[in-house]
Amino acid sequence: MRTKELPKTLPAFFWFFIKKHWVLFALVQLFAFAWSIDHTFWPYILMMLIDTITKIGVDRSEMWSLLTTPIWMGITLWICVEISFRLSGIFLAKVLPRIESDVRMAMVSYVEKHSYNYFSNNFAGSIANKISDMVQSMESILRLVMQLFLPVVLALIIATVLFAMINLYFALILVSWLIVHLGISLAFSKNCARLADVHALSRSTLAGKIVDSLTNHNNIRLFSRHKYEMQYLSKFQRDEQQKHWLSLWYIEKMKFAMGIVTFIGAGIVMNWYMLYSWQQGSITTGEVVFIFNTSWNITMMAWIAALELPTLFKEIGVCKQALTIIQEPIEIEDDLHAKPLKVTQGIITFENVTFNYLPNSNIFQDKNITINAGEKVGLVGFSGSGKTTFVNLILRYFDVEKGRILIDGQDIAMVTQDSLREQIALIPQDASLFHRTLVENVRYGYLNATDEDIVEALRQASALEFSEKLPQGFDTLVGERGIKLSGGQRQRIAITRAILKNAPILILDEATSALDSVTEKLIQDSLKILMEGRTTIVIAHRLSTLSGMDRILVFKEGKIIEEGTHVELLELDGHYATMWNMQAGGFLPDMNEA
Ligand SMILES: Nc1ncnc2c1ncn2[C@@H]1O[C@H](COP(=O)(O)OP(=O)(O)OP(=O)(O)O)[C@@H](O)[C@H]1O
Ligand SMILES: [Mg+2]
Repeated sequence: MRTKELPKTLPAFFWFFIKKHWVLFALVQLFAFAWSIDHTFWPYILMMLIDTITKIGVDRSEMWSLLTTPIWMGITLWICVEISFRLSGIFLAKVLPRIESDVRMAMVSYVEKHSYNYFSNNFAGSIANKISDMVQSMESILRLVMQLFLPVVLALIIATVLFAMINLYFALILVSWLIVHLGISLAFSKNCARLADVHALSRSTLAGKIVDSLTNHNNIRLFSRHKYEMQYLSKFQRDEQQKHWLSLWYIEKMKFAMGIVTFIGAGIVMNWYMLYSWQQGSITTGEVVFIFNTSWNITMMAWIAALELPTLFKEIGVCKQALTIIQEPIEIEDDLHAKPLKVTQGIITFENVTFNYLPNSNIFQDKNITINAGEKVGLVGFSGSGKTTFVNLILRYFDVEKGRILIDGQDIAMVTQDSLREQIALIPQDASLFHRTLVENVRYGYLNATDEDIVEALRQASALEFSEKLPQGFDTLVGERGIKLSGGQRQRIAITRAILKNAPILILDEATSALDSVTEKLIQDSLKILMEGRTTIVIAHRLSTLSGMDRILVFKEGKIIEEGTHVELLELDGHYATMWNMQAGGFLPDMNEA
């Protein structure tokens, strides 16, 4: 499915998924109408039964033959209604999981195409919640509409017609009561839904606070703040409790108003007119039973439907909220005529590139730079000087404002994003892993890697030894984001992935920053082999790790203020030399190797 085509309004969104299974939905609806038939035709059969019985004289021997029709009608109705209920349930059981899976997968697929920037601004947890909210609320809306509201509407129509057949005034009383009843429920429902929203918001704030508190359990322990934390949370708990009460209290008020209308309309007026008509002899005893029973059933149905109306509005609100993640356009899309990137040499060129995260933040202005084929370039500069941004632009995590970035002469904005990122192996500053097994995480670099490839890559990245020692070896689950591994171990897994990926362009963003100098030295040797014949960009704070670079670019506030080899830059005695001298104060045991 091309997720881009997902509709942006709620009715269109629902219809988009329902129409794929419209036959099943139609069957569910058809059989769900059994409820309406059940509640209106039973009293009708009862009426026939009573009218027949009351006509029988003292000799009751003919009763069975006289009652044949209503008895058979009753048996048939009973069986048909039972079968219909079961069929409706079965078809619903068939279609709901399908539509839920369609919606969930389409939404996940769409959201995963959002840009790097989108995920920097939105919590993954809240996006996942919205997707599951949409699935759950869609299910309850479908159930409410198909199994409650539409059958109630049909029952009302049938009852009105049957009443009118007896006496038009009964139909008139029923319809008038219904209009007032519906008016009251609609008037209250909007507010009910609003109060439920307010409560839901306060509940989710409370849940967020509890999660934050539990996540920071170490801080609580460290500062002995258990009591403080409980006091802090109880503020939010009180707010939630108050809003819950307001929402429930309002529903009670609605029930009160509905109760009065029902008592007057269905209770007093209808029953008085029914008894009055019987007294006048214009209706039979059977008809009294029919009218009494039907209006009772209809009152119950309308009552249940009215109570569920706020839920319907609330669920629609939830779905609208969830739909916002689909309404937000995908920021970075492949050009319509995008072709796959072909890397022959690996030359990276920035041509008059201007880029800002925020207006006037001045990250890059008119930047021109070429990284030659197979060149090893080091990027240095203080934290926040734009090194990672430089790499993010090459990966097209962001689009440039002006200018172009070319790889082997091809504008990266005009090639497919998949092909671009396939040609680049990045070892990121903060390596994060999936909560899957170690081997699954490693294989992410190259899905077709054999076990031997994996062992060899792990060995090269000095990750084999610790991997084998894990409780379940390669099959050990690494924890959320890889939390069960140390920072340095995670980095080595990221390096292993890059080795397996075997891409012509290699980027190391502080790839060895979390390692001790002995392990770092071991890996540096493997990385040197990996860099052979590839265009390589290495970002490092420890300047000694850049000793083997062909060129070093010195970043300061988004500008490249110096460039040259390590020796040239020292001779220049500028920013780089200052940084080097600061680090040479004993932080770097191996700096003399440079
Ligand atoms: N997603 C973002 N949205 C807005 N501003 C950002 C974003 N990412 C980075 N920045 C800002 O851009 C500037 C450059 O950040 P960048 O990550 O490129 O620095 P860096 O040189 O890699 O720093 P470090 O050495 O700490 O990794 C910083 O001022 C940072 O606050
Ligand atoms: Mg960085």
